[in-house]
Amino acid sequence: MSKLEIPLRLRRLRRTASVRALVQQTRVGVDDLIYPLFVREGGGAAEPVASMPGVGRHSLEGLVAEARAAHELGIRAIAIFPVTPATKKDPRGREALNPKCLVLRAVRAVKKALPDLIVITDIALDPYTSHGHDGVLHANGRDVDNDATVVLLAKMAVLQAEAGADWVAPSDMMDGRVRAIRAALDAAEHKGVAILSYAAKFASAYYGPFREAVGSQQAAGKTYLDKRTYQLNPANPREAWREAALDAHEGADILMVKPAGAYLDILHALRQRTDMPLAAYQVSGEYAQIHAAAQLGWLDLAATRDEALLAIKRAGADLILTYFAKDVARALR
Ligand code: PBG
Repeated sequence: MSKLEIPLRLRRLRRTASVRALVQQTRVGVDDLIYPLFVREGGGAAEPVASMPGVGRHSLEGLVAEARAAHELGIRAIAIFPVTPATKKDPRGREALNPKCLVLRAVRAVKKALPDLIVITDIALDPYTSHGHDGVLHANGRDVDNDATVVLLAKMAVLQAEAGADWVAPSDMMDGRVRAIRAALDAAEHKGVAILSYAAKFASAYYGPFREAVGSQQAAGKTYLDKRTYQLNPANPREAWREAALDAHEGADILMVKPAGAYLDILHALRQRTDMPLAAYQVSGEYAQIHAAAQLGWLDLAATRDEALLAIKRAGADLILTYFAKDVARALR
């Protein structure tokens, strides 16, 4: 018998699974999840992405099937990213404004099959440019031309809304794009289409596997695709608040922080600063890290996945974009 006097014992509320569930303060639910999906031209089975186990580049039919499977597990939203064949890429990303381009066909197909599933489209030129940047370049060929790019992004938004996108998500980080997109959508009578703005998107090395998946890194060749003239410096939280405030002011409906895991401080502080809904993107490199360690037998896949997502929710995200969405939805069943 112990003679220690310990009046307050916090372990009392950790004794059993039932007690722990009753006092649990944060939960990740299927309603929080947005499932990013890649679509490519052609038929057949999904083409695997080497650095993202379980993730594939789907045919149009495969995309609809994967969206349906996710929807049946309770997932309410997907984000579609197109893989453009190299032959359709050019320095100006013209394919982005082709009314028959892949992503628009994909939106139509998914909305036709699954009208209740929220479809989110990405607004940026990187899937379409031969240099892999998110916009068109100045004549000097070195830097992205902000204003010329914004004009194209606003047109993309209208095409995507016409195809049936519920939310458009500008991921390009040009100045003034949210205002231009909102104005263009309203002028085209798409007043109900919401803008999920990548407000605090950092110039991150964690995007590597995504760039391999959509082919923007291959477009850039051997040199690392450097987006530091438009994406945020990872060292600058106050600049992130300014970006978020601007996007809110320009008419964004939801603000996003990206990446998530290495930027939980940004997410947490932004939660204190705004009443807007917040999304966080657990990006390709975060997914790849967890899978790589699990493949080596060094981490438990499901436990690490769940802990990483819980941390993102705890930091203040209302919504989480994650390649794990379908796995988590299944595990929650
Ligand atoms: C590009 C875009 C990127 C991602 C989403 N949209 C990559 C980039 O900025 O180079 C990254 C997503 C991920 O890594 O999962 N507009």
